[in-house]
Amino acid sequence: MAGLVGLVAGALWAILPAYVPNNAAVLAGGGTPIDGGRTWGDGRVLGDGKTWRGTAVGTAVGVALALGLNAVAGPVGAVAGVDLPAFPPPAALGLALGAMLGDIGASFLKRRSGRERGASFPGLDQLDFVVGALVLALVLAPAWTLVTFTPGRLAVVLVATPLLHLGTNVIAYLLGVKNEPW
Ligand code: CTP
Ligand code: MG
Repeated sequence: MAGLVGLVAGALWAILPAYVPNNAAVLAGGGTPIDGGRTWGDGRVLGDGKTWRGTAVGTAVGVALALGLNAVAGPVGAVAGVDLPAFPPPAALGLALGAMLGDIGASFLKRRSGRERGASFPGLDQLDFVVGALVLALVLAPAWTLVTFTPGRLAVVLVATPLLHLGTNVIAYLLGVKNEPW
């Protein structure tokens, strides 16, 4: 049981810098869309929901969170009796920017498949940012990513993320800061 708690705690801690960027972007979004209004085929390349400001603020918040977690990992881990990973700057950037890029990639695919801004794409919506984060972390901090995301932690992340994502989006929807509950 203690082993499972440690596994889940370590996994969620390690992926936390990838969880916050999209939520920060929801609050910070607006302004110039990344695609500049351009279209591809009969749809927008990305749509008005992907903006420079949302992406920049989301990435910055994710990196700041990772560096903040570094400062408290020692004491929190000691009190809780679990092993919590620290984030070297390239890993922090990889997780945060990767989460934003995964979400942007998903919007690209949504527009190509005829889905308007805000339309849901079950599966993609819940995992796009985690896949983007892990891939960019692997590119920018390969050794750290392989050591940190053990198969066990990876399994926890892939199971817990869709549930947590749905939960936070329903809350954001109920609070009125998001237009759809996904
Ligand atoms: N947002 C942003 N920039 C990003 C991601 C999100 O500005 N890179 C902001 C936008 O205001 C967006 C809101 O966060 O409307 C919600 O994000 P998301 O659900 O990802 O966008 P949608 O508007 O639903 O558009 P899409 O269908 O492309 O996902
Ligand atoms: Mg959306």
